[in-house]
Amino acid sequence: MNPIFKHDVLVIGSGAAGLSLAVKLADQLKVALLCKDQVSGGSTYYAQGGVAAVLDSSDTVDAHVRDTLAAGAGVCEEQAVRFTIERSRSSIEWLIEQGVPFTENNDNLTESEYHLTKEGGHSHRRIIHQADATGRAISDTLAHKAQSHPNIEVFEHRTAIDLITREKLGLPGKGCFGAYVLNCDTEHVELFRAKFVVLASGGASKVYLYTSNPDGACGDGIAMAWRAGCRTANLEFNQFHPTCLYHPQAKSFLISEALRGEGARLLLPDGTRFMAAFDSRGELAPRDIVARAIDHEMKRLGCDCLFLDISHKSRDFIISHFPTIYERCLAFGFDLTKQPIPIVPAAHYTCGGVITDLNGCTDVDQLYAIGETAYTGLHGANRLASNSLLECFVFANSAAEHILNQLNQVADPPTAPEWDESQVTDSDEDVVISHNWDELRRFMWDYVGIVRTDKRLQRAKHRVNLLSQEIAEYYSNYKVSNDLVELRNLVVVADLIIQSALARKESRGLHYTLDYPQTNTQSSATILSPPNFSNQ
Ligand code: FAD
Ligand code: SIN
Repeated sequence: MNPIFKHDVLVIGSGAAGLSLAVKLADQLKVALLCKDQVSGGSTYYAQGGVAAVLDSSDTVDAHVRDTLAAGAGVCEEQAVRFTIERSRSSIEWLIEQGVPFTENNDNLTESEYHLTKEGGHSHRRIIHQADATGRAISDTLAHKAQSHPNIEVFEHRTAIDLITREKLGLPGKGCFGAYVLNCDTEHVELFRAKFVVLASGGASKVYLYTSNPDGACGDGIAMAWRAGCRTANLEFNQFHPTCLYHPQAKSFLISEALRGEGARLLLPDGTRFMAAFDSRGELAPRDIVARAIDHEMKRLGCDCLFLDISHKSRDFIISHFPTIYERCLAFGFDLTKQPIPIVPAAHYTCGGVITDLNGCTDVDQLYAIGETAYTGLHGANRLASNSLLECFVFANSAAEHILNQLNQVADPPTAPEWDESQVTDSDEDVVISHNWDELRRFMWDYVGIVRTDKRLQRAKHRVNLLSQEIAEYYSNYKVSNDLVELRNLVVVADLIIQSALARKESRGLHYTLDYPQTNTQSSATILSPPNFSNQ
């Protein structure tokens, strides 16, 4: 018999969202916190720029709301935007209380106690950070809190495969009460039961061939929620970060937008600047505009990369503000203090996701989604830089409060059958999985990337249909592995991205199509409902 676990709350994901929620609940409830590899394996650990928040006396909630709505290109939900930004200061105060060592104000460009930097689309300096490794500081601090709390059990090397709902098992009542989870060390499938389940499993940028994200960003939470009966929204809005290091071994290492915030310039191969021809904000235009401009110039000139240059700033300034990026570039032979560095755009952030309300509640009872997995309405058609971590903290807090308020109304989780492996065998052709991984990520990059057309999207749809069939057959015949679980989820999310992109007959924010270059006067979120969606 495989292990069976029971907790009050099962949190799937140990990034900023999952860690914050677990720490907030742990004094009252028993929490299981799952992650695919180690606690620091999500995107959070790699975050560079920082967290956007209204902290300086010359800044206002209204100004941050305005900037978020402008970047979101008309389809943000204003209530969610205001809800998030009104809670930005208290979120940062909570992080400081937990011990996150944000960089102190060293240049007096603002009155804040902490240094605030600037990024594209922001009208004020409002990004609080820890040099250029903010995610590492947040992740280390919160992981230490979680791992040392007696009520939090951290399970590493665990990949959730599917959620367990009463509806799926034909039990009376409604709602989610657990998940089947692959233990990647023992290769057994374990059963986790809980009163509440929280998806904090990050985004889906791994669906693209080139991405700034770590390997696990496969949209598992979005796919699991979809299969459990949750609707998704706005999955056509995939954010491409304009500046990732162009080097065969760099795996799209991110070059933070904070460099441009501190004066870095984008250059063509001949050394000329070009952003002013695309937007009056130049290098600090929102990301969709900058990434599209780079893509346009690369295609026009037939070159493999463009360049980013901050070498006009002093060596001390560069090394003290961007120590991690400086070291990493140097390891690849590029000295930021002396020369422009080669850059390309890469898939970075999933703006859409599982639809939730302001408490993180999804369409399925007792199932929450927070962080990059969720669609709260904050980001609209394009996320404003550094609003993502902020969303993780704000919604971890509101979901935690909601769970505590619901506690007495939710029954203990029922028993569920163990995972049934009696009909499957060990795979004898893993090459099918690796081939399909590559194929999927390549056609998503080529056909569903920065610039789209209906014909390209239809081509991608045709291929995703074939892959879905092949993977469904493979999944029902062979034992699960981490790669198979991820591929099965990537195909679901790729399909949802393509369906959402085909449904949007205009260009807006991150979705740009040559067939419909206009931006319509009226627009709304692209909502997809799974066959088992019930609004009863
Ligand atoms: P993540 O931090 O991605 O964590 C996901 C967790 O879920 C991981 O623990 C993973 O193991 C787990 N998981 C996933 N699937 C499963 C499964 N099936 N079973 C079990 N566990 C699972 N945003 C900002 O606001 N500011 C920045 O400066 C910034 N810089 C960035 C730099 C980089 C290089 C990247 C990639 C992103 C950056 N972002 C930034 C975006 C931001 O970091 C992410 O959106 C945010 O960290 C997401 O947090 P999360 O908690 O939702 O998920
Ligand atoms: C960056 O540092 O450029 C990333 C910021 C973000 O993704 O919000």
